[in-house]
Amino acid sequence: MIVLITGASSGIGEASAWRFAREPGTELILVARREDRLRELAARLPVPATWLAVDLTDADGPERVLAHVQEHHGRLNCLVNNAGAAWRATFEEGGWENVRRTMELNFDAQLRLTEALLPVLRESAPSSIVNVSSTASRISRPGAGAYSASKYALTGWTDSLFFEERTNGVHVGLVMPGFIATEGFPATELVANTLTKWLVASPEAAADAIWEVGPGGVAERYVPRFFAIAGFVRILWPALARRLLKGGMGKHLVTKTGADAADHVARQSGSSGSQAGPADS
Ligand SMILES: NC(=O)c1ccc[n+]([C@@H]2O[C@H](COP(=O)([O-])OP(=O)(O)OC[C@H]3O[C@@H](n4cnc5c(N)ncnc54)[C@H](OP(=O)(O)O)[C@@H]3O)[C@@H](O)[C@H]2O)c1
Repeated sequence: MIVLITGASSGIGEASAWRFAREPGTELILVARREDRLRELAARLPVPATWLAVDLTDADGPERVLAHVQEHHGRLNCLVNNAGAAWRATFEEGGWENVRRTMELNFDAQLRLTEALLPVLRESAPSSIVNVSSTASRISRPGAGAYSASKYALTGWTDSLFFEERTNGVHVGLVMPGFIATEGFPATELVANTLTKWLVASPEAAADAIWEVGPGGVAERYVPRFFAIAGFVRILWPALARRLLKGGMGKHLVTKTGADAADHVARQSGSSGSQAGPADS
C-alpha cells in the first residue's frame, strides 16, 4: 500500500506516518515544507519512505507532488490531506485577508492536490482519500471564524466527494479532531488547567482515526469520539450552543496556535514568516 501524507513533518501527520508504518507492505510519501524534518523521519521509519519538500499553496505544488508520485512510486493507494494551520483573529482584526490565507491552505490546497492525484488514485483502486478537517467544521467559536470557514468548506466538499467517488473505487473519509496537542495547536491553555486537560487528545489517537477512515473504510470519525456531541448540539439545539459559546467558554476554547507564534516571530524580525523547502528525494 502506497500512502501519501501531507503535513508529515510534525503533529498528526508525523504520528500518521508511524501508524501506517505498522501495516506490512506500506510505502510512504512524506510531504511538507521542512525538508530536514521529512528526511529525518524517512530515515527513522521502519518502512520505505520518500519525501518531497513543497509548499502546497504554491501554483506548481500539486504538479510537483504528482511528478514525485509518478517518478518514485507509480501508484497511490491512500492520500491523507492533513497539512493545515489556524491564525486566530476576529473578522474585525483579520478581515478577508485572514480568511483568504486560511482557505488557501486548509481548503484550496486540499482540493488542488486531490484533483492532481485523483487519476492515479482511481488507477490504483481500491484506494482512499482522508481529509483531516476539524470539529470546528461543525461548530464555530468567536475568534476562529476563518479556520471554521475553511474546515466547514472542507467537510462539505468531503461529504459530496464520498458519494461521487464510490463508483470509482476511491473511498473518501473524514476525520474531525477536537483538541490534539501538536506544534501547530499546542492547546497549552487547556492542558495547564486540570478542569480542561481531559479535553485534549494525542496525535496518535488522531492517527488511528486516519487509518480507520482511510484503508479501514469508515466514513467519518471525531477525535476523541465524544466530540461528536458538539456537532449534534449545534444542529439539534443551536440556541444552547450559542448560549454556551457566547459567554467566557467560547473564548477559553480558542487556544493560541503555532501559526500565530510564527507570525509574531516574523513581525519581530521583519520577514514574511513563510518557509519554503524546494527539495525532492
Ligand atoms: N491539533 C489540533 O488540535 C487539530 C484539531 C482539529 C484539526 N486539526 C487539523 O489537523 C491537521 C494537522 O495539524 P497538526 O495539529 O498536526 O498541526 P502541525 O503539527 O502544525 O502540523 C501541520 C503540518 O502542516 C504542514 N504545512 C503547513 N503549511 C504547509 C504548506 N503551506 N505546505 C505544505 N505543508 C504545510 C506543516 O509542515 P511544514 O511547516 O514543514 O510545512 C506540518 O507538517 C491540520 O489540518 C489541522 O487543521 C488539528
